Amino acid sequence: MISYTLLEFDTLNSTSDFLKENHSYFPHMTMIRANYQSKGRGQFDRTWTSNKNENIMFSILLKEIDVKRVGNVKLWILESLITFINSNGINCYFKEPNDIYVEDQKLCGILIETQTSKDIYDYVVVGIGININQENFDNLPATSFKNILKSKQDLKKLFAKLVNILIKDYERYHI
Ligand code: BTN
Repeated sequence: MISYTLLEFDTLNSTSDFLKENHSYFPHMTMIRANYQSKGRGQFDRTWTSNKNENIMFSILLKEIDVKRVGNVKLWILESLITFINSNGINCYFKEPNDIYVEDQKLCGILIETQTSKDIYDYVVVGIGININQENFDNLPATSFKNILKSKQDLKKLFAKLVNILIKDYERYHI
């Protein structure tokens, strides 16, 4: 199995911004998780807000990815996330462009960003936010593991399980 580097922080502005700014210092398959993001970002320049210590927020750095294979990155991430969510007894589905929903509520968002030079992406940063223990989302159509399963979840254990699935699945996607 591919080896990976994992760093965990209490607070960052954004795990994706951190990796983009520091990509040259880290190897392929570096994962950065934070308990809180002060400037979390979503798709379409939206902000991604998330209560401290309640949700999984992390980013993955992939380096030197052939432009032709970036579609495989998305497939790898989606399949791993869906396997992970299903394995916790939750039925979910993919919703374009990059979301995972349960019924009509969002459970997980994905943000894929790249920097290219010709046929090779210097890096691909995949940012993932999964609602785990947050109960209230103001008026947004969103839900969490806790709301669905009706019990508080062990965030660290869930994250470790997700990392295992991602690493195990990676080999199959020829990225
Ligand atoms: C979306 O649904 O709009 C995508 C949300 C992506 C959120 C994650 S949380 C970890 C990473 N860091 C960020 O600033 N954004 C992504």
